[in-house]
Amino acid sequence: MAEWWKKSTVYQIYPRSFMDSDGDGIGDIRGIIQKLDYLHELGVDILWLSPVYDSPNDDNGYDIRDYYQIMKEFGTMADFDELLEGVHARGMKLVMDLVVNHTSDEHEWFKNHPDFYIWRDEPTNWRSFFSGSTWEFEKERGQYYLHLFSKKQPDLNWDNPELREAVYEMMRWWLDKGVDGFRMDVINMISKVPVMHDAPGGDGSHQFMNGPNVHTYLREMNQQVLSQYDIVTVGEMPGTTPKEAREYTAAENRELNMIFTFEHMGLDQASGEKWDLKPLELTDLKENLEKWQHGLHDEGWNSLYWNNHDQPRIVSRFGNDTDYRVESAKMLATCLHFMQGTPYIYQGEELGMTNVRFDSIADYKDIETVNMYAEKSEVGIPHAVIMEKIHVKSRDNARTPMQWSAEPNGGFTTGTPWLKVNPNYTEINALQHKDPESIYQYYKKLIGFRKDMDIITHGNFELQYREDDELFAYTRSWNDELLTVYCNFSDQPKAAARPEGHVLIGNYSADAGEGDILLRPYEAVVYYK
Ligand code: NOJ
Repeated sequence: MAEWWKKSTVYQIYPRSFMDSDGDGIGDIRGIIQKLDYLHELGVDILWLSPVYDSPNDDNGYDIRDYYQIMKEFGTMADFDELLEGVHARGMKLVMDLVVNHTSDEHEWFKNHPDFYIWRDEPTNWRSFFSGSTWEFEKERGQYYLHLFSKKQPDLNWDNPELREAVYEMMRWWLDKGVDGFRMDVINMISKVPVMHDAPGGDGSHQFMNGPNVHTYLREMNQQVLSQYDIVTVGEMPGTTPKEAREYTAAENRELNMIFTFEHMGLDQASGEKWDLKPLELTDLKENLEKWQHGLHDEGWNSLYWNNHDQPRIVSRFGNDTDYRVESAKMLATCLHFMQGTPYIYQGEELGMTNVRFDSIADYKDIETVNMYAEKSEVGIPHAVIMEKIHVKSRDNARTPMQWSAEPNGGFTTGTPWLKVNPNYTEINALQHKDPESIYQYYKKLIGFRKDMDIITHGNFELQYREDDELFAYTRSWNDELLTVYCNFSDQPKAAARPEGHVLIGNYSADAGEGDILLRPYEAVVYYK
C-alpha cells in the first residue's frame, strides 16, 4: 500500500483542552468541528485525537471504561461521525488513540473477565509511573493486580488470546467506521515477563518494556487487523533504542509504521526520574537525533516530535520563551521539520504557546503531577522546590487550554475552564495566525515543503559542526540536491560557513552578503541547492 504517511504532517488534538462548544469548561467534539478550517488551512494531513472514549477520567481519558462509547463531556457518537465526515471532506485523515495496555478499573471486563488482567499473590517492589506501587490488593479475590499507571488503570493480560481477540474486534469496529489509523499508547509494554521480580530502585521496566512476546502480538495484530486497511500506525514506546525501533517499523516485519522514541525527551533529566532536572546540552540532542536519523534511514521510519500532551512546551524547554519566543519557536520547528520522518505538531505549538507557572498545587489537575507533589511533600521537600519541578516538567504545561483569542479564557470556553488558561493568552493567541510573519504561517510553509520536496522524505542526513554546543547544523542530500539547515540554539550571534544554493526559508530576513554568515539569536536558515 502507498506510504502516504511519509509525506504527511500530523496534528495532535487533546480534546479536553482544544475548544469548548457548550460552555461547560471542557473541550468537546463539536468544538473540534468548529476549528476544522483552522486546521485545514495549516495544511496538516492527519489529526490524531487523544482518547475520546467513555472514561471516569482518572487520567483524562487514558483510562477507558467503554471503547465503543464517546465520553459524555465530549459529545455523542453522532458528533464523532460528523467530525470524521468533516475531516474527510477536507481531505484530511483521523487517527484515534488506542489505549490497550490497560483499561479503567470501571471497564466491565475488570468485573466480568478478570482473566483479562494480571494477578499475583505477592507484589514486586515496582514503582508506578504515577508514584506508589504498581500493585493493588483486591480483597474479594485475595490477590494483587498490576497497574503500571494509576490504580484505576489495571494492565491487560496480552498472553490471553481471548483478550487479544476482543481488542482486535474493537479495532476493526473503529476502522470499519472509517478512522484512518491508531496512535498506540505505551504499546511496547503489553508483554510482561512470565515471572516478575523485584528490581533495583523499583524500576521494573526491563520486565515489561519490549517484553518477550511484544513482536509476536504486534505481528498478529498486523495480520489480523492493520494489514486489512489503508491506515497509519504509530506506537508510543518509552525505553526503546533505534535497533529495537527498526524491528518494530521495518516494512518487511509487518508491525507498525513508526514509533515515538523518548530518548531526546530524557536529555534534560539527571536520572531515570523525569523530575530530576538538568539543563540540556545541545551536543547530546544533536548526537541523539543523529543516531535516530541514521538508525532508521532506509530500514524503518521515524516520527519527529518536540511536544505532546505529556511534555512541557518546547519553546520554554529548548527555546527562549521571553526575549526570542517567536524566533526560537520557528527555529525549533525548522530543526525538526527538515529531518527524515513524519512530524507531529501538538495543539498550540503552531502559536508558540509556552509553559505555565501556577503558584498553587490546587491549580494542577494532572494525576502524575498531583501524586508526585504529595509524595515529595510527605518526605519534607519544600513547596518551592517541588513547584519548580512542576513549572519545568508538569504535563499540565501542555494541557492548559488552547489560546484562540484575547477574549476571556482565551476564547476556549464561555464557562470556567477545567484547567486554568495560561494568563499570557492576551498576547499569544490564534488571532495572529493570518499574519504572514506568524509562527502558524511558518509551520504552514514547512508542511508544504515536505509535501513537495522528495529530498525531505528520502535524503541522507549528515550532522555538521558536531562539537558546537550552540549550533545545530545538518545537511540532507538526495541525487544532486542538497539542503543545509542551520539552527542557532543560543541568544548569541554565531558564525558559520555560507552554504551552497539559495535561502529556502528562515526566521529572519535573508542576509544576501558573501563570506561566512552570522546567525542572529535563535536564527534558523535553510539553504537549497
Ligand atoms: C501515555 C500517555 O501519553 C499518557 O498521557 C498516559 O498517562 C499514559 N500513557 C497511560 O495511558
